[in-house]
Amino acid sequence: MERRLPQFEHASTRICAVSDIPEDDGLKVEFPDRSPLAVWLVEDKVFVTDDTCTHGQASLTDGGMLDGFIIECGLHLGAFDIRDGRVESAPCTKPLTVYAASVLDGDVYADLVTLVEIERHHG
Ligand code: FES
Repeated sequence: MERRLPQFEHASTRICAVSDIPEDDGLKVEFPDRSPLAVWLVEDKVFVTDDTCTHGQASLTDGGMLDGFIIECGLHLGAFDIRDGRVESAPCTKPLTVYAASVLDGDVYADLVTLVEIERHHG
């Protein structure tokens, strides 16, 4: 069944299959030529972010705790909103990078060039 979530346009890099992502949780996806991404599936929507916390070198998918749209880092308990990367809790101060994502035919695609702006979700 085709499942399309046209959240953004220009999403071009295939990241993973939707079925690979644990529901209401995240999947770490590693690449040979860039830092790992985290793919989140919450309320039937997919979000693609950096996997590495902006406060340190902790993986958000390995040891982090997702509560709704908020991912809490497991190392120092800083937190981000996965929809736009906004910092939700100290000690984090730098937003998490969020990539424009979409789903087509059961696969997740992300635009790894055009970043999601915070204002898009919190106007
Ligand atoms: S490394 Fe994530 S809060 Fe410090």
